[in-house]
Formats: sequence, structure tokens, C-alpha cells
Amino acid sequence: MFQYGEKMHEVLKLSVKESLMRGLFFAMTGFAGNFIIISVLYSGGLLVSEQAISVGELSSFLLYAAYTGVSIGGLSTFYSDINRGLGASSRIWEIIDRKPSIPISGGLKPLTGPKGDISFQNIVFSYPNRPDAPIINGLNLEIPSGQRYALVGHSGSGKSTLGHLLLRLYDPQNGQICLDKTDIKIYDPVWLHSHIGVVSQEPILFSGTVRENIAYGREQFTENEIIDVAKEANAYDFIVNKFPDGFNTVVGERGVLLSGGQKQRIAISRALLKNPKILLLDEATSALDAESEKLIQEALQRLSKGRTVLTIAHRLSTIKNADKLAVLFNGKIVELDSYDALMSIENGLFKKLNKNQILTS
Ligand SMILES: Nc1ncnc2c1ncn2[C@@H]1O[C@H](COP(=O)(O)OP(=O)(O)OP(=O)(O)O)[C@@H](O)[C@H]1O
Ligand SMILES: [Mg+2]
Repeated sequence: MFQYGEKMHEVLKLSVKESLMRGLFFAMTGFAGNFIIISVLYSGGLLVSEQAISVGELSSFLLYAAYTGVSIGGLSTFYSDINRGLGASSRIWEIIDRKPSIPISGGLKPLTGPKGDISFQNIVFSYPNRPDAPIINGLNLEIPSGQRYALVGHSGSGKSTLGHLLLRLYDPQNGQICLDKTDIKIYDPVWLHSHIGVVSQEPILFSGTVRENIAYGREQFTENEIIDVAKEANAYDFIVNKFPDGFNTVVGERGVLLSGGQKQRIAISRALLKNPKILLLDEATSALDAESEKLIQEALQRLSKGRTVLTIAHRLSTIKNADKLAVLFNGKIVELDSYDALMSIENGLFKKLNKNQILTS
């Protein structure tokens, strides 16, 4: 707060200085302009009284001089305006001309939905802004269709990153991610996204109504569908009973008017409405109260039915419900088995993670 105050004070001092200088500049130019006019009138007056020039000649001289002066002054502001415009537009052109390394659309669009087999093969990945720090380093993982896998690992081990790769928000530097034995790079990104439902760690809502947020990504839907998915996601009760305008309630910029648990249940409704074959769930690390926790778990259980699910798990209940747990460590999957099997490994990594309580129970 103190630092902020200090910086604001600095800005204030600079603005006062700018205003003073500006005032001084315009006072000087105004004064100089008027002084010149008076001098011309004075010496012109002398010339008229000596009958060297006529009054008409003096006034036309003054008029022309004033026109020329104003026009030259205008030119200088015109020049600076043009420069300012060019500077601003060059930044816009830069953005327009940028070629995304991952195309926005185009590619294979199978007529039927995917079966849902996912495989990560030898993935090596580092974020573009930190190319020498690989987050994923030689990772292999196969998730058969219809199975529920939970990904566990330390905070910062790269779990969300793996989700970003599956959604093809980034391409790995090495290795392949396949959906139904075909590299996801072959598919049309729009098709790919339409078959992967995401409930992210911090669900992103838009400043619209609850209904618009649930229907986001779907062009056609009926009111009954919206109500059904909201019920399935355990969101219906709070939408209808706690919100002033029900489904028409505005959620505020990025959903600020909603609690974390409410945002998650709206995100689950959205994923349900999309009815995707693959689900990517990134559990929130923040603790929720037991009641919303239970409601969300229930909703996620319903959402998972009949789909290939990759859950980035922070909660023991999710982990126990998964078909298999994949333990991510140093950019690789180092353990892969059911909860009971992993807990029975002496000195196993998962057992240690569990003991250190990185998982919320
Ligand atoms: N956009 C990015 N650019 C550069 N580095 C990033 C970016 N996003 C994440 N990272 C880094 O990558 C590493 C893995 O991040 P990631 O978000 O995948 O962790 P996580 O396992 O999901 O952690 P958590 O359990 O806390 O959610 C971290 O060290 C993080 O600093
Ligand atoms: Mg994460």
C-alpha cells in the first residue's frame, strides 16, 4: 500500500510538472503571437501615417499573415497527429499479421464422435517463454476409452500443463498425443474442442447471465435442456432459490458475483450440455465447505458416466473413485495403478504424497 502511494505521488508530481510546462509554453506562444500583431499594427500604423501604404494594404497584410501563421501552426499538429496514428496502427497491424503456430481451424473432421482412446507418447514440453525448462519430459500415458484416470503430483509438477497439451493449446516439442490412434494435430481444432469437456481449476465465466454461461459453446438448446443439466450439476437449487433473477441473473465480470463452488457447478452444467466423449477436470485446490464439496463430487460422478475422464485430482474422494491413478513426477508418469495397489507399494511415491497430505481429504 505504501509503495503504491509512493508511485501515485510520483505520477502526481510528474503531471503537475507537465501542466506547469504546458501552461508556460502556451502562455509564451500566446504572448509572442499577440506581441507580433501589436508590433505589426504599430509599425504598419506609422507607415500608413507616412502614407507609404494604405489602410487596405495594412489590413490585407495582417489578414494574410494571420492565415499563414494559423495554417503553419495547424501543419505542426497535423504532423504529430499522423505520427501518433501511425504508431498506434503499427501495433494493431503487428497483432493482425501474427500467424498462430497452432491453426484455429482446418484439418480432419470425422463425421462421428471419437471413441475416446487417449495416448501420450514420449511427450517433451517446455513453455515457449522458458524453453530450457522442460515441464514434461518423456511422458507416456494411455487412457482407454470409458476409463476414469486421476492425475496426481506436487503443485507445479505439470498436471494442468498436460491438460493444456491435450486441448492442443500448446504443441509438445517432442512426442505425440493421439486420440483414437490418430495424432491430435491431424484433427480440426474446433472438432477436437467440441468433443472435450473442460471443468478447469478456476472456471472462466463471462459477464452475461447464468443461462448464457451454461449454454456457452452451444448454438441451439432448449430451456428444458438447460434446466436438466443444471439439476444434474446440483446447480439448479442455488440458481432458482438464491439468485434474484434465476437463470437470467447476471454473473458479473468473470463471475465475480458467484462463489467458487457455484462457479464450478455452472462450469459442470456447461460441460454436461456439451455432452463430450472426453472430460478434462482440473480440481480446484482451494478448499470448499463440506456441503458444496459433496454436491460437486456428486455432480462430477454423474458427469463422468460413459466418458473417458482425466481428472487432475487434489481430493482423496476423487482419487479413490478413479479407475487408475497416474503419479506425475519430474515430468514423467512414475506410478500407474489403482489406489489400493499404489498404497501397498513400500516407499511408493504416491504413498509418500498421500502421507504428506498434498491431497485434501
Ligand atoms: N503459461 C506458462 N508459461 C510459463 N510457465 C508456466 C506457464 N504455466 C505454467 N508454467 C509453469 O509450469 C509448471 C507446471 O505448472 P502447472 O500449472 O502445470 O502445475 P500443476 O501441476 O497444475 O500445479 P497445481 O497443482 O498447483 O495446479 C510450473 O512450474 C509453472 O510455473
Ligand atoms: Mg494446476
